[in-house]
Amino acid sequence: MASASDPRQPQKDAADQSFDYMFKLLIIGNSSVGKTSFLFRYADDSFTSAFVSTVGIDFKVKTVYRNEKRVKLQIWDTAGQERYRTITTAYYRGAMGFLLMYDIANMESFNAVQDWATQIKTYSWDNTQVILVGNKCDLEDDRVIPAEDGRRLAEELGFEFFEASAKENINVKQVFERLVDVICDKMNESLDNGQLTASANKSALLSETAPEGQGNCSC
Ligand code: GTP
Ligand code: MG
Repeated sequence: MASASDPRQPQKDAADQSFDYMFKLLIIGNSSVGKTSFLFRYADDSFTSAFVSTVGIDFKVKTVYRNEKRVKLQIWDTAGQERYRTITTAYYRGAMGFLLMYDIANMESFNAVQDWATQIKTYSWDNTQVILVGNKCDLEDDRVIPAEDGRRLAEELGFEFFEASAKENINVKQVFERLVDVICDKMNESLDNGQLTASANKSALLSETAPEGQGNCSC
């Protein structure tokens, strides 16, 4: 049996069909806020200070256990650069949850949050769940956005809010777990009310299909 340190493990995880739910999640936000770093910290527990800007879109797979269910997460890491916007927004449809990220030391990235929220509204499902993440909270000396401002904006937008650090591994796991929990809550609520649409139901329970021409799995 492959151990956690076995290099074959991620491939096995990506191909593994035994799960109760499949959730498609997206990480969005300006370039350099730390989206790729956040995903690598969560999926591989690794971090590098080198900046390699994402080209287009990529994804990783991670399986978690919540309420005795195996939940397979397909986590899409989008490029923040404007030139990839047409490609990345094509992936919003069918996403059950978003991490909308800014950098607490970068005002421009915070000012762009409203625009990213509009993109979610425009291109994704109505009942998709969103968590606003103020990343790089290890950079206290360079902070330009008080935590309170992040919290207030999240409240205005109807999102949950966390500050986190991919570098110092602060709140990374917690953010993903919270997103999974709010999606599960929403699903149960919808099932109770008999509101879950056929398409949403299918996507939650079965493996997600990507838009045509999607890139490689990086797992
Ligand atoms: P695009 O792919 O261009 O959209 O950028 P991105 O949002 O994926 O940013 P990326 O993860 O590549 O990180 C950008 C830079 O920020 C890199 O140099 C990272 O090392 C650094 N970085 C990411 N997260 C943190 C963090 O929590 N703290 C600090 N201090 N640096 C971070
Ligand atoms: Mg990136």
